[in-house]
Amino acid sequence: MSIPPSPQVSAPPKSGKAFPPDFLWGAATAAYQIEGAYREGGRGMSVWDQFSATPGKVWEGHTGRTACDHYHRFGEDIELMQLLGLQAYRFSISWTRLLPTGQGKVNSRGLDFYDRLIDALLEAGIRPFCTLFHWDYPLGLYDQGGWLHQDSPQWFAEYSALVASRLGDRVEDWMTINEPQVFVGLGQSEGTHAPGDKLPLGKLLKVVRHVQLAHGMSVQALRQGCQLSPRIGWAPVGMVQYPVTNRPADIAAARRGTFNCVEGDMFSNCLWSDPVVLGRVAPEACQTYGRRMPKYSEADLRTISQPMDFYGVNIYQGTPVRAGKDGQPVVIPFPPGNPRTAFDWSVTPPCLYWGPKFLHERYGLPLYITENGLSCNDWVALDGGVHDPQRIDFLTRHLHELKRAVADGVPVDGYFQWSLLDNFEWAEGYKQRFGLIHVDYETFQRTPKDSFSWYREVIRTRGKKL
Ligand code: FCB
Repeated sequence: MSIPPSPQVSAPPKSGKAFPPDFLWGAATAAYQIEGAYREGGRGMSVWDQFSATPGKVWEGHTGRTACDHYHRFGEDIELMQLLGLQAYRFSISWTRLLPTGQGKVNSRGLDFYDRLIDALLEAGIRPFCTLFHWDYPLGLYDQGGWLHQDSPQWFAEYSALVASRLGDRVEDWMTINEPQVFVGLGQSEGTHAPGDKLPLGKLLKVVRHVQLAHGMSVQALRQGCQLSPRIGWAPVGMVQYPVTNRPADIAAARRGTFNCVEGDMFSNCLWSDPVVLGRVAPEACQTYGRRMPKYSEADLRTISQPMDFYGVNIYQGTPVRAGKDGQPVVIPFPPGNPRTAFDWSVTPPCLYWGPKFLHERYGLPLYITENGLSCNDWVALDGGVHDPQRIDFLTRHLHELKRAVADGVPVDGYFQWSLLDNFEWAEGYKQRFGLIHVDYETFQRTPKDSFSWYREVIRTRGKKL
């Protein structure tokens, strides 16, 4: 007897076609989540150092002080990347390793670390994809007002110019900012991430505009300062609604839901990306906030909407919908027992078909999936291996959907699995394991999981057997 797939989960793949030959296979990490060495090499403190040191903020009081000790073990990690056959590696730079207080005096030892990391990646034949800001905001700048300060875009531009001048002779691929929705939505609206603020709506929208200006000015700084001709994008969250049937009305409703702007919700795609990519305030945002929207001058919008080479997007899950009577999306609840990850996120593979499709329709840019993955309850088994069949199944289903999007002509140029290593998962501490490689946080021993060998095969065959 064969077991039918759950209706919420796509059918198994039929075609044995590979992804295109130039499709890039990668994995991603972020500085605070893996580096550790929080007081070494002249590094200054970030809001995450402070937040994680505050009792009750992070699960079991975990901090990123030592994390995966990647700062000392990056050589070993690059060897593992080579073993994996990784073509591209997405990592982030710690702002406070370079500028301990966020601006002013440069810490050359911080730059030396990234010099060595990048040289070693290039030597290993791995293309570096560098994110300038993945949430570890300098405490020195936060204390001056942080993203609420009118000079905050300029601070970020100065940091970007420094990075460009030092690393732009070897790095070609850049992302300015990772998931602005999260460090604003969770960090400054809900207060569950650093810096733990709960700002009122007016201030949040002010922060949104500053972060967008920071992005635009950072793009300008990279274009001016990099020796190589840079390819630049950013990496917001992709909030995806997907249709439960292929009826045009359901598809239209899902598209509408994907670009909604709900009062007080900092996760909206269009609130963030319309100014950045289309150089306009989203009509949906104008409708929701009206005169409460901060004023964007023509000059602001020109600065914010610097031409980008790609749209990076992090997609982990989506929301199934159908069209209601008025064409509005109606959320379809999951059936009882629907698959969920260890993080308790629902497993929704169609998000990797519909997300890229809708985002490309609206923004017209080539895409990279800059993060996708799941946390599992992984441990080292008695036989010494780490067996993670759920990760293999999850990634297979999602890559199958992505392959379908590519086959339908959506220009997705690459995929970065989150994450190369188990790491410090923000407010969840070390509870959630997202890695292809298991990390023992006491000995720092790395153990490739079963999914590591599986992903190596996917890369080697360009996803042919998925
Ligand atoms: C994303 C973050 C990344 C990681 C994954 C699981 O929101 O960008 O740092 O925490 O989720």
